[in-house]
Amino acid sequence: MPATITVHLVAADGRRRTVDARVGQSLMRAAVDAGEEGIAADCGGCLSCATCHVVVDPAWADRVGPPSDDEAYMLEMTASPQQASSRLSCQITLDESLDGLVVQLPDRQY
Ligand code: FES
Repeated sequence: MPATITVHLVAADGRRRTVDARVGQSLMRAAVDAGEEGIAADCGGCLSCATCHVVVDPAWADRVGPPSDDEAYMLEMTASPQQASSRLSCQITLDESLDGLVVQLPDRQY
């Protein structure tokens, strides 16, 4: 049975939600499976929609790491302004080092 970690999703209005996630799944998948409506994820995780935009809490940015070149290209198309620690959540693969991860959800995904 895969290990489980906890991630925290903070909505634009400050609403904070804690979600259990399996190690090895993407942050997007964990959030969507938990019913999080702040992540649209229209393309299902194939890096072609930019509607899974999250802003990684600065305290976690180094651990999460930077986007790939392809992801950086897609990040230029997010509905809400890109920030220094913006990532597409379908491209963040969860591992034990991300237990307790905090991300903010932009106010708009479209
Ligand atoms: S779900 Fe479409 S780019 Fe992440």
